[in-house]
Amino acid sequence: MARSGSVLIVDDEEVMREILEALLVREGYRVKVASSGEEGLELARGTSFDAAIVDVMMPGIDGITTLEELKKIDEDLPIVMVTAFASVETAISAMKRGAFDYITKPFKNDEVIVVVRNAVERRQLVAENAALRQSLQAQAQKFSGIIGRSPRMRQVFNLIMQAAPSRSTILITGESGTGKELVARAIHANSPRADRAFVTVNSGNLPPDLLESTLFGHVKGAFTGAINPKKGLYDLADKGSIFFDEIGNIQPETQAKLLRVMQEREFMRLGGMETIRVDARIIAATNCELKDMVAEGRFREDLYYRLHVINIYLPPLRERKDDIPPLVQHFLEKYSEENNKADIELKPEALDLLMEYNWPGNVRELENVIERAVVLSPSAIIGADLIPDHVRTAPSFRIPNFVVPPEGLSFKDVITNVERRLIESTLEAAGGVQKKAAELLKIKPTTLNEMIKRHDIGARRRKGPAFSETEEETDSPRARTAAELTRE
Ligand SMILES: Nc1ncnc2c1ncn2[C@@H]1O[C@H](COP(=O)(O)OP(=O)(O)OP(=O)(O)O)[C@@H](O)[C@H]1O
Ligand SMILES: [Mg+2]
Repeated sequence: MARSGSVLIVDDEEVMREILEALLVREGYRVKVASSGEEGLELARGTSFDAAIVDVMMPGIDGITTLEELKKIDEDLPIVMVTAFASVETAISAMKRGAFDYITKPFKNDEVIVVVRNAVERRQLVAENAALRQSLQAQAQKFSGIIGRSPRMRQVFNLIMQAAPSRSTILITGESGTGKELVARAIHANSPRADRAFVTVNSGNLPPDLLESTLFGHVKGAFTGAINPKKGLYDLADKGSIFFDEIGNIQPETQAKLLRVMQEREFMRLGGMETIRVDARIIAATNCELKDMVAEGRFREDLYYRLHVINIYLPPLRERKDDIPPLVQHFLEKYSEENNKADIELKPEALDLLMEYNWPGNVRELENVIERAVVLSPSAIIGADLIPDHVRTAPSFRIPNFVVPPEGLSFKDVITNVERRLIESTLEAAGGVQKKAAELLKIKPTTLNEMIKRHDIGARRRKGPAFSETEEETDSPRARTAAELTRE
C-alpha cells in the first residue's frame, strides 16, 4: 500500500542507508538520505520532513547532537533513533531528549515500517491540530467577540462570512439583546471595507429633522441656527459601512430619502441642491417586525425590499441554550477582569438556573446577571444565591421533550394526556378557580369547563391524592417539570 510522507535517513553506513531507503520507498514514502549529521541538518533546513531516522553512532556530530539540532530546526519532527543493541541506554537518553522512538540493530523490516508509520501519523496529527487551533483562533477574531456554538449561531457565522465580502445591503433582525450590533460590526470587519469607517446611526432616538441633517449634513442657512455648512454621517461612511440601528423607528420622510441614497447612491444636504455621491455599504438592524409595519403603512414597502436583500436573523437565546455556558464563561472572564477578581466560577446549581430561565432580554440580560453576580460575589465561587429572584423563580414553560418508543405510541392518547395535565396544573395554579384558569390558558371559561367535563377532572380530583394516577402514566419527566412550574 502506498503511503504518503517524506522521511529523512541519516546514517554513516552506506549499507544501512540503502536497506532503509529501499524499505521505505517500497512502502511509498519519499526518502532523502544523508551520510552524516551535518548533511542531514543541511537537508532538514531546506525541506520539511514528516519523520527522520537517525543513527546514534556517527563520526562528526553524533546522533544525539543531530537529534537536538534537528529539533531546533523543526520542533515537531518525529525522530526515530537507530542504535546498536549494546547502547540501549543511549537510546533511552535520546528519548529523554525528545526522540519519538528508537530501533535497535539488527532490526526487523516490519519493526521499522511500524515505527515510521506511527511517526508520520503523529506528525500529520500535530499538523492538523495546529491548523485547527489556528482556525479557531482566527474564527474568534473574525467574529469580533461573538460567542456561540449552537447550530443556529453557526449558521449565523456562515451567513456573515458569505455576506461580508459583497456590497449588498444587510438587514439584521432579532429580539432586543440578541447581538445585532455585534453582527453588524463583524460584517464590516470581514469586508474589504474593514479599514474604513463603521458609522452607527441611532435611528431611534433622533427627531426626524435632526436625523436628516445628521445623516446628510446641511448647507449654510438650511434652518435657523445653521450658521455653518456641515457634513453628515454619510460623508464619514464613504468607502466604509453605515449601520442603521433600529431602522424601524425612522420616520416616513426620512425613509424616502434613505431609499433614494440606497438606489442612486447619492444624496443632497439639508437645504442644498447639489447631489453628493457616496459609496457606503448599508447594514440595518431592527427588533420590529418590518413586514407588519409595511402592512400597517408605517414602513415603506420599497425600502423594506431594498433592505431585505440579505437577512440575518438572530434567534432568541431561549432557542439556543447551548450558547449559555460559553457565554457565561465569556462574561465571567470579562467582568472578573474588569473588577480585578481572580478566576471567578459559577456553581453548577447556579448554571442550572440560568439554563432554565427563558431570557426575554436575551444575551444582554444574561450579561447583566453575570456582571451583577461577579460584582456582588464575596468569594471566587458564585452560588445560586447571587442569581436574581426573577431568574430563579420565573416559571419557564417548556414543551416536553418527547421520546417516541420504538413500538410507537398513540398520538391521540398523548395529546389527551397532555391536555388533561395542563388543565389540572392550571387549575391548581388558579387555586381551583375555573375562570382564572381559563384566563391563564387564554381560552373561554365555557371551553375550559367543557374540557374539564370531558376529561372528568373534577371526579379525579375528588378521588384523593393529587393526580397520583396520571403521574404514573407520565410519558416524560419534562411534562412534570412544566406542570410543577406552572403550579408555582
Ligand atoms: N453572541 C454574543 N457573544 C457575546 N456577547 C454578546 C453576544 N450577543 C450579544 N452580546 C452582548 O450583549 C449585549 C447586547 O448586544 P447587542 O447590543 O449587539 O444587541 P442588539 O441585538 O443590538 O440589541 P437591541 O435590539 O436592544 O439594540 C452587548 O453587550 C453584546 O456585547
Ligand atoms: Mg442594538
